[in-house]
Amino acid sequence: MYAEELRQSLLQKTQLFLQQDIAVSELTELREVLVFHEWNYHINFEPLISDYEYDQLYKKLEAIEAAHPELITPESPTQRVSLQVTEGQATVKHLTPMLSLANSYNAEDLEAFDESIKKLTGEAPDVKIKYCVEPKYDGGSVAFVYDSDKLLRASTRGNGIQGEVMTANARTLPSIPLSASFSKLGIKTVELRGEAVIRKDTFDKINAAREKNGQSIFANPRNAAAGGLRMKNPNETRQRGIEVFLFQMGYALDEAGADAIAQYDSHHERINLLSELGFRVPTIEKKYCEGIAEVISFIKEWDEKRDDYQYEIDGMVVKVDSYQLQEKCGSTQHHPRWAIAYKFKAKQATTQLIGIEYQIGKIGSVTPVAKLEPVALAGVTIGSVSLHNEEFISSKDLRIGDQVLVERAGDVIPYIVKSLPEYRDGSEQPVVFPAHCPSCGTALIKNEKEAAWRCTNFQCEAQRLQRLIFHVSKGAMDIDGFGKSYVELFYQKGWLNDLSDVYVLDYDAIATLEGFGAKSAQNLRTSIEKAKQNPIHRLLHSLSIHHLGKKASKLLGEQIEQVMDLQSWKTEDFMNIKDIGPVVAENVIAFFQDEENLAMIRRMEERGVNMLQTDDDKPVVLKADAPLSGKTILFTGSLQTMSRKEAQAMATDAGAKNISAVSSNLNVLVVGEKAGSKLKKAEALGSVEIMTEQAFLNLINE
Ligand code: IVH
Repeated sequence: MYAEELRQSLLQKTQLFLQQDIAVSELTELREVLVFHEWNYHINFEPLISDYEYDQLYKKLEAIEAAHPELITPESPTQRVSLQVTEGQATVKHLTPMLSLANSYNAEDLEAFDESIKKLTGEAPDVKIKYCVEPKYDGGSVAFVYDSDKLLRASTRGNGIQGEVMTANARTLPSIPLSASFSKLGIKTVELRGEAVIRKDTFDKINAAREKNGQSIFANPRNAAAGGLRMKNPNETRQRGIEVFLFQMGYALDEAGADAIAQYDSHHERINLLSELGFRVPTIEKKYCEGIAEVISFIKEWDEKRDDYQYEIDGMVVKVDSYQLQEKCGSTQHHPRWAIAYKFKAKQATTQLIGIEYQIGKIGSVTPVAKLEPVALAGVTIGSVSLHNEEFISSKDLRIGDQVLVERAGDVIPYIVKSLPEYRDGSEQPVVFPAHCPSCGTALIKNEKEAAWRCTNFQCEAQRLQRLIFHVSKGAMDIDGFGKSYVELFYQKGWLNDLSDVYVLDYDAIATLEGFGAKSAQNLRTSIEKAKQNPIHRLLHSLSIHHLGKKASKLLGEQIEQVMDLQSWKTEDFMNIKDIGPVVAENVIAFFQDEENLAMIRRMEERGVNMLQTDDDKPVVLKADAPLSGKTILFTGSLQTMSRKEAQAMATDAGAKNISAVSSNLNVLVVGEKAGSKLKKAEALGSVEIMTEQAFLNLINE
């Protein structure tokens, strides 16, 4: 990517820029230096300066840009995160359909694929077709369009024809250059495709942090990466540590709209080209193979070492290298005929079922969990796996002491495939599902329509603990920093008996606990104080009333002025709400007739928890009549009476959609002081309504 001479000059400039003040006229060079170090760090994995030095240069750039905002360009390293929210549900048509891949599972399948390639291309049976073999990354597919060297758009795969636009999020990904020198190769518009992934160790750190904060953990790096691409706030995308491997440059046009890459007639040349331009591609991971036998042995090598690889992969992709041959093969509606995915087998291991533990959930459901002789499988040690319910155990004829086959596919959650009766010696014991709750001894019951046995004692110790864990979690009261382990610790200490105790914790005592201290006790207090102001739909959901999920809680929150109103609600009141059924009605009525529950709610109220309907609880009013309904808007320059974020929120409330750039899609530009290039561009377009901050305020207050 960087020739030696350029590299030396950028290194020299790095030192100069670190040591002395940088002139405004050197702004472009400073940006080049930063982009060079970003490439060394994120793509080449060979940082040439320390993080501290990088930060110093970055700060110098920020300072110059703050003094000269008119010189800021969208490609500047400081512009990766914009304040603006992502484009929401906006979709875009891919320039060519993003096809899927056909699958193969063994050497015979690959040999058959090789034969079909020879038939389709007319090559002789003894010819060794050249293939490129790459890991099949298990993440989220993404497409990027660059136009005139600039990243123009990024989108998810979607249904293959249309994807969801996520440009603002993609701009935060350090492995995606904001600009690249395609024009030097005569390319004006190009569409690149790749896979967004999260390294296994980064994934573990993310989950550990989420668990600590009481957030739900991700099942696997794929979900974390694919979800990360679609975050509303680009800053959250940035924090996921997503990296992108590019594996296809299918479409590239020159200024005249003609194919600009015909001379690069092979997949490996095009991938090398992308690498040269500064993109992350499978470099050491891919192999150029001559003939299918080499492909098969390369895949075998990877099958053996895939657990040690830093990224989750679920197979390898075999691609005919020559584009001429690819064209002869063509594609079906679903997949190209010139490529095939080889899917690795799920990893399996045999181990012993030592016993079964029964875990009680927040509404009393009993989940059997198999305790296994710990066994290493696909990089993790497995000691316990969920058995879901009684039916699962009997359908697999599991017995205590059995040898069982455990499997872990691409996903992280392992499961028992079957028992292995051939190893039985007669000492195995049948599983007797408990008739009473292992925590409180209450007789378990089973509703015909449900798979789980349940403990009906609302005061059961195990249920109380689970309800507390749920109450503080992200999906319920969202008490930041109040993770499961803290709830368990405070519960053991007798500080938490029911949900209302969350709001009278003794922070001085917490500060003295091992691993705490005054700062973390204070942080917890701040989070709990904040949660007290939650809208009532969150509170309703956090009470763990059976079947009262998020949506039903929201619907109820819309209808009541205060939580205690539910005390007088009758079945017909619930039935008047579309989407609320009799089961929810019955359970909510039962909850609000129980004296202990009512006393708990009153204690919560006394301790400051909001019980009144908030604006957030009220039904969303359709904004068709709003003053900016259906318009796109952009704020530029410094605003005097409000922050940029506040202004954007007001615009959204007035029915507008905030966008980040001036283009023919922009309807309204609000200009603050020192507005620069955006104002000029909007004036030049002529189609944009330009208004002052005051005019904007007058309009939305109309
Ligand atoms: S090539 C037209 N190469 O696998 C064929 N795909 O199951 C384009 N994937 O949607 C795909 N790693 O998201 C290709 N090295 C690789 C890949 C790869 C992961 C994903 C891709 C595709 C899916 C198909």
